[in-house]
Amino acid sequence: MKYKIPIYQPLLDGNEKKYVNECLDSNWISSKGKFIKEFEDKFSEFLGVKYATGVSNGTTALHLAIETLGIGRGDEVIVPTFTYIASVSSIIYTGATPVFVDSLSSTWQMDPEDVKRKITPKTKAIMVVHLYGQMCEMDEIMKIANEYKLFVIEDCAEAFGSKYKNKYAGSFGNISSFSFYGNKTVTTGEGGMIVTNDYYLYDKAYHLKMHGVSRDREYWHDVIGYNYRMTNICAAIGLAQLEKADVHISLKRKLAVRYNELLKDLPVIPLKEAKGTINTFWMYSILVENVKLRNELREFLSGAGIETRPTFYPVHTMPMFTHQYQKFSVAEDIAIRGINLPSWPQIPDESVVEICNCIKEFFTKLKLI
Ligand SMILES: Cc1ncc(COP(=O)(O)O)c(C=O)c1O
Repeated sequence: MKYKIPIYQPLLDGNEKKYVNECLDSNWISSKGKFIKEFEDKFSEFLGVKYATGVSNGTTALHLAIETLGIGRGDEVIVPTFTYIASVSSIIYTGATPVFVDSLSSTWQMDPEDVKRKITPKTKAIMVVHLYGQMCEMDEIMKIANEYKLFVIEDCAEAFGSKYKNKYAGSFGNISSFSFYGNKTVTTGEGGMIVTNDYYLYDKAYHLKMHGVSRDREYWHDVIGYNYRMTNICAAIGLAQLEKADVHISLKRKLAVRYNELLKDLPVIPLKEAKGTINTFWMYSILVENVKLRNELREFLSGAGIETRPTFYPVHTMPMFTHQYQKFSVAEDIAIRGINLPSWPQIPDESVVEICNCIKEFFTKLKLI
């Protein structure tokens, strides 16, 4: 179905076309070419981290990050159940076991107290996932990680440019991953990035993404690696996006302020910016009172040509994990009551007003306001 107001549209109004044409004109369309290094260098510079290596998507970035830390069979990785499936499937790919934790109702991010409760002698890492542009409680999580000597992997797919106490998402953990899917704040169509301050981890991730090929002997592979490379065309788009990243972020933050203003008298609870953080509002998300209202509101908006998304289903409720009954009250509650509203940076103000008027009409009809 084609919506009048889609949930997302990438903003491609910079040098994207120019740089892609340079790839085509120069024949450098595969995973070699000047844009890859340039994009990686500018990306690490933006975040204030030492190393970055481009990969084919955010899921391969996560898989590679976990494998690079030497995590595998017999190890446990703590991860929020309230996340996109890739955070969990990437742990499974390595043979390790995901151990779920609940979320905080205030920020929707992983609950540090629950992290502490889930640590066992098999725990090797905490995977923090900064959801919807909001960041996790990094002070508490880093304290736990230091105390128990655990690695920290940051899944920053939804948090490019977000900050916690003035430090960017991706600059806290041992190794961090980003996604550049078409609906991300910086997009390359499909793409991802691994960043780290540790040269050893960077070098290992690079080696693994290149099929483990020897650096000085062609077609000689010293480990079984992967083809997780990024193409020059993707990097060209990424570089152009990065040049305007601050503009994208500022537009998204302004959009959140506008939604807050227009929805303030309605019975919805928006995901707020937590104190001491900069939320880049990858998605503008709200909670309504219950699942029935959530589904009816989504249908009402859809009927008016407005596309929305439900918040993620907690992963522990999916068929692969239900053999073991687990209860995560906060995650389950957010999951059934949440809606993501159209969140593209360049969305016209008339459309935002139309969405909010439509939400108001819905609640008026039900005599809830
Ligand atoms: C939290 C999170 N992690 C990982 C990913 C995976 O990224 P990709 O779709 O680029 O593989 C996504 C994608 O949307 C995500 O939202």
